[in-house]
Amino acid sequence: MWSFHNPVRLSFGTGCFEGIGEALTGRSYALVTYPDPYFGELAERVAALNGAPCLFIDNVIPNPDFAELAGLCDRLGALSRPPEVLLALGGGSVIDTAKVLAASNGDFDLVRRHLVKGESSIASGILPIIAVPTTAGTGSEVTCWATVWDASTGVKYSLARDELYPELAIVDPLLMCCMPRSLTTSTALDALSHALESIWNVNANPISTNYAVTAAREILSYLPNLLDDLTDLELRTRIAKAALMAGLAFSNTKTALAHSLSYPITLRHGVPHGLACSFSLPMVLRGVLGADAECDAALQSIFGLDLEAGAENLSAFLRTIGAPACGTDLGIAQDEIRALLIDAFAGVRGRNFIGSRERVVAAQENLYHSVSTTVTA
Ligand SMILES: NC(=O)c1ccc[n+]([C@@H]2O[C@H](COP(=O)([O-])OP(=O)(O)OC[C@H]3O[C@@H](n4cnc5c(N)ncnc54)[C@H](O)[C@@H]3O)[C@@H](O)[C@H]2O)c1
Ligand SMILES: [Fe+2]
Repeated sequence: MWSFHNPVRLSFGTGCFEGIGEALTGRSYALVTYPDPYFGELAERVAALNGAPCLFIDNVIPNPDFAELAGLCDRLGALSRPPEVLLALGGGSVIDTAKVLAASNGDFDLVRRHLVKGESSIASGILPIIAVPTTAGTGSEVTCWATVWDASTGVKYSLARDELYPELAIVDPLLMCCMPRSLTTSTALDALSHALESIWNVNANPISTNYAVTAAREILSYLPNLLDDLTDLELRTRIAKAALMAGLAFSNTKTALAHSLSYPITLRHGVPHGLACSFSLPMVLRGVLGADAECDAALQSIFGLDLEAGAENLSAFLRTIGAPACGTDLGIAQDEIRALLIDAFAGVRGRNFIGSRERVVAAQENLYHSVSTTVTA
């Protein structure tokens, strides 16, 4: 038995951002975005179509953290009348910040107590969100959770509520055309990680796997071409659609071992989220071979019949586009990766993984062995 559910209304295609006025339908809104001038210009376009926002938060930084979120929630709480809708204009950090604002009702302490102490402190009446992703990676525009970081304690939290599904996601590849190469790479690899993690997952179902297979095939086939020409709108559109499909897939399954392993790597070593997830994909793939016939079949439709060779090809793919394919590529010692891996299996997301701990650990040790043999030779 399985079920699939995603309530987010989607608008996709080049130029669909211009429909934002219609989406806001004259409602008062708070606009959440980054400080860069490009996003200021986009905010002006929204204001020209719908009037000025009642709150303009334009200082979101990557990986929303407790310290900064508290101040942003205070600004929402200080309004005499709350906005009718939150407009998130940016990548995962912006959309997740909007989700925290929506859940906070202007008081971050409610969210903090919920995340840290498990209190049911979040009130009903969560503000609706319109998400306009400007990166093609996180899928946050179609999920009901936000990643919240607390760098001071080195802990990553997940804020999850059904009401946090955006009411609408406007996915316009034109907004992604100015992403630099490094951001294009790391965000697309985040999407590839979502796709694969939803396949080797206890919660996988035929619909999520179908989205995931399409997404992974597209990213593997077209990301190198996009990296050769970052201005190619057709390729941007393909990767945006793949990231969205990967988002739909893992919106129903959540992520698994590679994500569980990624969080301390981002917190301790500052590795961008997408790369912190994708460096371990070849190793995790080796650890899931033969665990489940349907999973194997889905992976074979991405990587070919020989999945050992598929894992090798995935490593080669990552290195060809300049991404790390093992802990050594990130400069992280084997002992640290091994210890993190053991913790990752025990984490909430790690427990979604259907493969074998022994096989993943063995694959990790072989990787280090082969790298050090190559270096010695
Ligand atoms: N909620 C979820 O379902 C979910 C899933 C995966 C990841 N995440 C979280 O999302 C965050 C990562 O989000 P992200 O990868 O989208 O990046 P991001 O939002 O952290 O942004 C990274 C940088 O990219 C720049 N940027 C964004 N769009 C741009 C564009 N079109 N052109 C030029 N520069 C642009 C921003 O200014 C910023 O400096 C992490 O905190 C991660 O944990 C959330
Ligand atoms: Fe992710």
